Amino acid sequence: MKAEITISKNNIISRIDDRIYGSFVEHLGRAVYGGIYEPGHETADEMGFRTDVMEMVKALNVPVVRYPGGNFVSGYNWEDGTGDKSKRPRKMELAWQSIETNEVGIDEFQEWAKRAGSEIMMAVNLGTRGPDEARNLVEYCNSETDTYYADMRRKNGFEKPFGIKLWCLGNEMDGPWQICSKTPYEYGRIACETAKLMKWTDPSIELVACGSAHINMPTFMEWERIVLRECYEHIDYISLHNYYGNPNNDTAAYLASSIEMDKFIKQVAAICDEVKLEKKSDKTVNLSFDEWNIWFHSNEQDKEIPKWQVAPPLLEDVYNLEDAVVLGSLMITLLNNSDRVKIACLAQLVNVIAPIMTETGGRTWAQTIYYPFMYTSRHGRGTAVRTFCECGSYDAGNMKNIPYIDSAAVISEVENELAVFVVNRSLDSECELNINILGESHYRPYQHIALEGGDLKAINTADEPENVIPVVKDIGGKITLAPHSWNMIILKNTF
Ligand code: AHR
Repeated sequence: MKAEITISKNNIISRIDDRIYGSFVEHLGRAVYGGIYEPGHETADEMGFRTDVMEMVKALNVPVVRYPGGNFVSGYNWEDGTGDKSKRPRKMELAWQSIETNEVGIDEFQEWAKRAGSEIMMAVNLGTRGPDEARNLVEYCNSETDTYYADMRRKNGFEKPFGIKLWCLGNEMDGPWQICSKTPYEYGRIACETAKLMKWTDPSIELVACGSAHINMPTFMEWERIVLRECYEHIDYISLHNYYGNPNNDTAAYLASSIEMDKFIKQVAAICDEVKLEKKSDKTVNLSFDEWNIWFHSNEQDKEIPKWQVAPPLLEDVYNLEDAVVLGSLMITLLNNSDRVKIACLAQLVNVIAPIMTETGGRTWAQTIYYPFMYTSRHGRGTAVRTFCECGSYDAGNMKNIPYIDSAAVISEVENELAVFVVNRSLDSECELNINILGESHYRPYQHIALEGGDLKAINTADEPENVIPVVKDIGGKITLAPHSWNMIILKNTF
């Protein structure tokens, strides 16, 4: 098979907001306890953070981490995770039916994020709580005033505010599984009033309202429309959440997951603009795809995990090569929609549907999905430009004309570099690829990194952590993409 990608450097999609390389740490399973935090571990620092995990997080270059949930946040009292650790309450955590010790809260997490080189995207509880607790939390985190909650932070040992700039107004409030879920009108009203109080407390913050919990929610679109009508002028972004999977082992269709993601983004953007028109507003509400990933492998095993444990091994999906290829193409879609998607969080970061795995008390390793995320995060910074691809197509599942090649291109601002991310969706054919940059004869392929292999179901484990790792490909005369592979081709201007 042959394909040609044509790129015009003038056909700009957008300057990429670095926050599309965000991730997520929820108080769920072993994400926090046994994941980022394990005081007895041999690599733990003086605060109990695992430095082996920290190094792997840093390599991903994650600019923002969403915290503390997810479903968890809708029953969470943020005060429980502040101050003297010996006085913190041990609680029944209803969302995941686990025990929360509150050993880690915002006091600790803000320090972890600083050490990891990330900002925090903080979610407030709009399930069991409301505007009052949300504005108190903003005061605790961000205020320099001589007032109750800012003073409480000082008493807890933090003179300087944490300076958290990005906030989520609840989580998946349309989901019946959510603690105190709401109708769109109920949520839109509370989001509006909470947003007002939070911004009056700190006008510099940005706010994300909850969109639908996923594209197949029965109220999808109607939810967005009603919520936006209620709070449009008070919020900055609306959230999208979606998880992809291959439960029926139809890999040809699974490899086309990014087409569904693209459709979802365009639909939500259209509703934002429809409400903008209705309101005759000058303001554009952009998108925060703050939960995306592959999630299906652990569904059955999770049913067997007993309730009311501290840090049970929930949502520990083991990812294979085909998952990594799909994840790479989902990132291509985020880049190609970077004019509207300004924030995105890979859900999640450690142990829970995560690129990084740990043994409690033991080793850490990178899952297959770690690699496309890491390379795209490192090289996909700058300006996204449109790619036009001539290639064949196929039909799978209920989809027709799925292009074999999925691609995105990024002009780097720091170096004379153009990064092209490409997925070959064909299950059996190699692809000979030509990259044509219009009006530029001095760009030469300089590096080709690929995630490929004969076994689509190959995985990494603690014992075999390098079973699926990227390879450096020869860039002699032509670029060859292996079947079902993810690829990054760096071109340099040699002029
Ligand atoms: O990321 C796991 C869960 O998925 C989150 O808690 C929730 O928001 C979503 O349903």
